[in-house]
Amino acid sequence: MNVLEQEFIKGFVRMCSDGFAQGWHERNGGNLTYRMKDEDIESVKNAFSYQRDWYPIQTEVPYLKGEYFLVTGSGKYFRNVELDEEANIGIVEIDETGTKYRIVWGLKNGAVPTSELPSHLMNHEIKKLVTHGEHRVIYHCHATNVIALTFVLPLKDEIFTRELWEMATECPVVFPRGVGVVPWMVPGGKEIAVATSQLMKKYDVAIWAHHGIFCSGADFDLTFGLAHTVEKSAEILVKMLSMSSTKLQTITSDNFRDLAKAFQVTLPEEFL
Ligand code: 13P
Ligand code: ZN
Repeated sequence: MNVLEQEFIKGFVRMCSDGFAQGWHERNGGNLTYRMKDEDIESVKNAFSYQRDWYPIQTEVPYLKGEYFLVTGSGKYFRNVELDEEANIGIVEIDETGTKYRIVWGLKNGAVPTSELPSHLMNHEIKKLVTHGEHRVIYHCHATNVIALTFVLPLKDEIFTRELWEMATECPVVFPRGVGVVPWMVPGGKEIAVATSQLMKKYDVAIWAHHGIFCSGADFDLTFGLAHTVEKSAEILVKMLSMSSTKLQTITSDNFRDLAKAFQVTLPEEFL
């Protein structure tokens, strides 16, 4: 079986290209990981090599022991993923303690997984638990308008959620639980991983102040669509704020309640 012909690889590569096309992945910005299904592992395991060393994850993810993830490489450009998959992405296996990983495919020539691996894995662990295994994709991108808003809006979940919901009618249907906000933190370590995973117990989207979007979903379409919807809404808010600091009219709390009824979603009262 050719690894590169597998649907899960093709979907992952397409998402990298689509994210680059949106302008969310300057240089090596952003990272993507996918928790593989048993059938994905089965379809490519003949291509695995177990020669490389185990390395510490720098956090503990015991609930992910023995799982395999497709991941982007650290310092690798999303632009280049479709041009040379084996150099820019790879498959890692988690050990039986949930504290180490090893590369079993790809990331050739000494490449390593994304520096945000601790954040990705801690959030995969949380999402695997709270969605009963449904969520498999974690995506981080440097979405321009979301980043811009983190300089002018208070860094509060309820403010970001409400403002983003108001900018496009279907936002509350796409992210009914709202969005969480992580204050500025050093990227790539355990601290930002822990702070983000606390929020992701409740939300599918965390906004990293002055940095970007971090989000989770069941598959590539849903996860990319979620980031796209949040960023589109942020773009409208940036345009609106550029025209005027006040709204002449908007979607009201009662409008949201009507929307929730019509679309059969539950919107937390704290955001209404
Ligand atoms: P990596 O190249 O290590 O994935 O880092 C990019 C990034 O966006 C860090 O937040
Ligand atoms: Zn980043």
